[in-house]
Amino acid sequence: MTTTRQDTASLVAGQPVLRTAYQQSVAAYWNAERDPVNLRLGEVDGFYHHHYGVGGYDASVLEVPAELRDQAIIAEMHRLESAQTDLLLDHFGVVQPGDRLLDAGSGRGGTSFMANLRFGCAVDGVSISEAQVQFANDQAGARGVADRVRFHYRNMLDTGFATRSRQVIWTNETTMYVDLHELYREFARLVGGGGRYVCITGCSNDVTGGRSKAVSQIDQHYTCNIHPRSEYFRALAANDFVPITVIDLTRDTIPYWELRARSSVATGIEDAFLTAYREGSFHYLLIVADYIGW
Ligand SMILES: C[S@@+](CC[C@H](N)C(=O)[O-])C[C@H]1O[C@@H](n2cnc3c(N)ncnc32)[C@H](O)[C@@H]1O
Repeated sequence: MTTTRQDTASLVAGQPVLRTAYQQSVAAYWNAERDPVNLRLGEVDGFYHHHYGVGGYDASVLEVPAELRDQAIIAEMHRLESAQTDLLLDHFGVVQPGDRLLDAGSGRGGTSFMANLRFGCAVDGVSISEAQVQFANDQAGARGVADRVRFHYRNMLDTGFATRSRQVIWTNETTMYVDLHELYREFARLVGGGGRYVCITGCSNDVTGGRSKAVSQIDQHYTCNIHPRSEYFRALAANDFVPITVIDLTRDTIPYWELRARSSVATGIEDAFLTAYREGSFHYLLIVADYIGW
């Protein structure tokens, strides 16, 4: 059987990047995604994020004259999503320009570019969306950082990168697409002793009971599987990661959702998020964990 160029591009160490029908459907979702809530916010300053925001919003944007209001709200939402990224980066600890970082589930690259700007370090991003990888690499070229920030069509469960090659690994709203035990096994392989993992994620509150209707609606909307909160700590401990900081960002993210619900780029999922956060069935967490293995 002959191997086509496409086949070769889809293999990492002889294995296909997409291993399951589920991963294929997630990749298809992100390949097709052209959502204004991501693209119009990214156009504000060229940092494209696919995550939510934190912090209070400036309510004066709602009083801006009608013809300018839409753009003012979008700029404010973008400020909140970039504030979320800054908060994530604040927890990386000491990063040297010679360090190599991994953005696991890198989207259109916004967090990777901000990490490179802040620390001067090299960053590799991986995504199972070829369209996103292409977009983000084009951005790296346009920004003149293509030699330091690179995006790869790879699976974060099996990245193919060298063992102990990373000082910091992060996931910014990507863990709901994967099995956490498999993910942290791969991260344990990639970081050496003293390496750090930083995560921002939504998770269901399994102290108060089973999965709420609102959490199920979010899963359905994004084709994801939101994990219970306890699952994060079980999977981290099982792979020699010790949580050193955990911050509940739930209160801090509600204003972003309130503003988004009033914006022209609302997607229809805003009520489910607001309900889930307000009723306490869903939490928005930042977790920092250090690797204590070898
Ligand atoms: C909600 S987006 C977040 C993107 C980015 N972290 C950000 O904050 O802008 C989820 C990302 O996870 C990626 N993803 C999902 N499953 C993945 C997997 N198994 N391996 C690599 N990337 C994956 C998707 O392709 C997408 O880029």
